[in-house]
Amino acid sequence: MKWFVLLLTVPMCFAHLNVYLSSAEVWRLLGLTAELFYVRDGQVNFYALNFVVPVPATIGELHFTWQSLTRRPLPYTLHVEVVNHSEAMHTPEFNISTEGFVPTEPQTWQVTLPCTHAVAAEVDITISLNVSTGSSSTALHFRRRKICLKDAPRPAVRVDSVPHAQTSADIFYAGAGCAGGALLIAAVAAAACRARARKLRRARSDEQDAHAFLPDSSCKSAASYTSYRRPTSLPAAAAEERARDLQQRIAELTIQRCRVRLRSVAMEGTFGRVYRGTYADEDAREQEVLVKTVAEHASQVQVSLLLQEGCMLYGLHHERVLSVLGVSIEDQTAPFLLYPWGASWRNLKQFLLACRGVTVGGAAGGAPPPPLTTQHVVRMALHALDGLLYLHSQHVLHKDIAARNCIVDENLRVMIADNALSRDLFPADYHCLGDNENRPIKWLALESLTKRMFSPAADVWALGVLLWELTTLAHQPYAEVDPFEVAAYLRDGYRLQQPANCPDELFAVMAYCWAMSPDDRPTLPQLQIFLRDFHTQLTRFV
Ligand SMILES: *[C@@H]1O[C@H](CO)[C@@H](O)[C@H](O)[C@H]1NC(C)=O
Ligand SMILES: *[C@@H]1O[C@H](CO)[C@@H](O)[C@H](O)[C@H]1NC(C)=O
Ligand SMILES: *[C@@H]1O[C@H](CO)[C@@H](O)[C@H](O)[C@H]1NC(C)=O
Repeated sequence: MKWFVLLLTVPMCFAHLNVYLSSAEVWRLLGLTAELFYVRDGQVNFYALNFVVPVPATIGELHFTWQSLTRRPLPYTLHVEVVNHSEAMHTPEFNISTEGFVPTEPQTWQVTLPCTHAVAAEVDITISLNVSTGSSSTALHFRRRKICLKDAPRPAVRVDSVPHAQTSADIFYAGAGCAGGALLIAAVAAAACRARARKLRRARSDEQDAHAFLPDSSCKSAASYTSYRRPTSLPAAAAEERARDLQQRIAELTIQRCRVRLRSVAMEGTFGRVYRGTYADEDAREQEVLVKTVAEHASQVQVSLLLQEGCMLYGLHHERVLSVLGVSIEDQTAPFLLYPWGASWRNLKQFLLACRGVTVGGAAGGAPPPPLTTQHVVRMALHALDGLLYLHSQHVLHKDIAARNCIVDENLRVMIADNALSRDLFPADYHCLGDNENRPIKWLALESLTKRMFSPAADVWALGVLLWELTTLAHQPYAEVDPFEVAAYLRDGYRLQQPANCPDELFAVMAYCWAMSPDDRPTLPQLQIFLRDFHTQLTRFV
């Protein structure tokens, strides 16, 4: 319902402006490094606008950034309303005039949310921004839920140095804040996906856009945010037509999945589901896809993670990298991530296990793969290395290189994929060390494990473990070592053992990847030269 109300109040030719939270602000509120756009280039992000952002007790003011993108003056009015519990909050105040013109330079303004500390409450606040465009005016409503504690002194220090008051109220509020935060994280991730898609689409403007989010034709005029951008003004009738069209588009959003046909379950975890299926584009051309999604009982955190991790490789194009083709988020409880797929493609870890005669995770059987030779292994490692080289050239660290996050086809060509759902599908490969973070402990470089430091050299370490997985047909690394002991084990200088049948030269390379100091590990180009030479030697003697 709310969506429709909002949509009706927003004309298609919305004022040409940006309204967003800077990455510093998003970091302060949600601990994420990303800008959050409410309006970008005049295009409204309803998804983000619909979230009630929780404001922790320690944050006393909110910052917004805006900028007019047109030369014409853009008059605005600002208004803030305390929706409930007005006894818990003094009147919020802006530090800019509540009436004026949106500046053409980016400007940050703030609104203070002063708690009275007379009572503890979750106070709902709505900040309304009216922007006039010629004859009409448009209202955007930003909703916040501020946590006010009773008798708490105003924090005069930075948020991260405020000691934790362990009152039961505090714990309750923290919990409440988290749920909202997860939703917003999903929104931010989804917005990031769209922004990236849009950038790409702009870059390839003449292209027929095979990578749109599940659009058109049999699904009528399904909307992607791109088609929303109408900074030019339209005649009234056309605008009305547009508005109707828009409503219809939103309605269509909920059935966009009609383009996706799920055929069979490829893998299944406790909440994650991976399907094989087909996706029909605007011209009804069908293409094989893999669909990653979650079951209905998945939590918001799991949903957010799926979106965040699934978007990691979005828009990257390389023959050794499998990146997501599209995202369907119309149903917040269970987004769909689509990946292009080949009939003979398999998850590399499952493939390796099948080579050993083991099946996991409901893997579709198929003929047992031919035995792998050292030559195959080296070639496969080179493929993964090529993919990783490309990612690094695009300034993307993978942070979870492992056989489970690779794909292999019938010609033993390997591609790197993202790690969305891997925690759920390969639970034995991830562990929590006392905190709530489920990490691929046994694939992590020592500094990533102990200090959470990531660098290209940390990906190189994991690539070494991947090489070890290839030579052992996906044995569990350090199977006998307790996850809690891994750091100490590595610090003491222990490493994975040389697999049977693994030539010394190849093992030397792996061991080299696991050097204690990141600076001592080989670079990817060095590894590439070595593995190529080694591959040449192998072929020479066969
Ligand atoms: C915004 O404009 C609408 C009419 O377009 C008006 O009803 C509303 O009161 C205005 N809101 C503010 C905060 O000025
Ligand atoms: C309003 O507050 C923001 C954020 O603290 C600050 O950057 C900006 O300079 C302030 N503007 C005015 C006019 O005081
Ligand atoms: C008012 O406050 C409570 C929490 O105290 C909250 O759950 C509720 O959603 C708020 N908003 C409204 C509009 O009642």
